[in-house]
Amino acid sequence: MTYFLVSHQIGTVAINKRNISSVIWKDSFLENILKNIKRNANYKRLFGPPAEAVVKELDLAGKTCLITGASGSIGSEVTRCLSLRNCNVLMACRNVYKAKLVTNNTCERNHLTFYQVNLASLASVKTCAENILANEKKIDIVILNAATFGLPWTITEDGLETIFQVNFFSQYYLLMCLDKILSSDVRVVFTSSESHRNINWPLSPTLEDISLPQDRYTSIKSYNISKLCGLLLMHYLSYLWYETGKSVFCAHPGSFIKSGLCRNWWAYEALYILMIPFSKSITQGASTIVYCATSPELKGMTAVYLNNCKRCEESDLAKDFNMSIKIHDLVLEILRDRVDNFDILFKNYSSLK
Ligand SMILES: NC(=O)c1ccc[n+]([C@@H]2O[C@H](COP(=O)([O-])OP(=O)(O)OC[C@H]3O[C@@H](n4cnc5c(N)ncnc54)[C@H](OP(=O)(O)O)[C@@H]3O)[C@@H](O)[C@H]2O)c1
Repeated sequence: MTYFLVSHQIGTVAINKRNISSVIWKDSFLENILKNIKRNANYKRLFGPPAEAVVKELDLAGKTCLITGASGSIGSEVTRCLSLRNCNVLMACRNVYKAKLVTNNTCERNHLTFYQVNLASLASVKTCAENILANEKKIDIVILNAATFGLPWTITEDGLETIFQVNFFSQYYLLMCLDKILSSDVRVVFTSSESHRNINWPLSPTLEDISLPQDRYTSIKSYNISKLCGLLLMHYLSYLWYETGKSVFCAHPGSFIKSGLCRNWWAYEALYILMIPFSKSITQGASTIVYCATSPELKGMTAVYLNNCKRCEESDLAKDFNMSIKIHDLVLEILRDRVDNFDILFKNYSSLK
């Protein structure tokens, strides 16, 4: 058997001549080549500035930001940029050890506090919220950024479909739990996605339309639902916080950004690698989130969906305020069944009906 070994500074590939399809990739050979091609091209104009440039004029000393999914690709970049501008960042992470590793040497460590949370469990969210309430006096920015994708259908210990619970439901619950320490001019940012457009619902969705049963499930559909719910509840919160200084935004980071999001299925991993030359880098992906969280240009605004640091029109369904109320009521109903003393604890969020 003849092998050609091709050494390259960014990886090594061994090609079996008889069976050219059995290519063994090492050190993400293809990924690194594509990244290199991209580095040489001027994509900056096309994909916008890196997140660091968005905050470079700001001093965020005295501000505290809570971010979920802070150990992930985009989340850790947002954390880095905010901490470099003196913002105290509360990193709510499933894996605190990983969060410490990814922020090692990149962030201002004295601005970071780590909180453990598994968003697939309401009990874990409650414990995380209790820990935050015990240690923190106020939160000025909340970035609901954690997400998962590409999973086979699974149900959490709370009886909800996992992607829906992790990407949206638990994070909204976390926000509700922290209500009393949200500052009077808090900014809440949902990390959203353009893919929210691909959902059609009946006039009055039920639990099964948002937490999909196995026979209706695809991970893309569930992911899109979770992002649509974020946009709908952005509108709900803007109404709830009408005539207060509190504001809420949704930010689309970009499409096909090669991150941990595609890790659960090799086909997505391959697709995202192939899209590297045509997509934003992680730091460009973080820029719209950072912009929503900090930009003085957004002062006085609320309920805005942004893409590329600019206002963008969300889907008609995402703008339907009746649907916002229905989904919010459904969320409360689901929580009421699962959280003790719900109506006493969360009367601020009660239905608008
Ligand atoms: N990448 C894209 O092309 C793209 C496009 C549109 C929108 N977005 C959005 O951008 C945001 C950031 O995604 P990313 O691309 O940076 O993906 P990522 O690298 O996979 O980061 C996702 C983060 O969510 C956390 N997470 C997942 N499951 C969790 C759980 N059960 N409990 C607590 N945390 C959990 C992960 O924690 P672990 O590190 O422990 O897994 C990780 O920190 C997401 O909201 C995503 O939907 C991304």
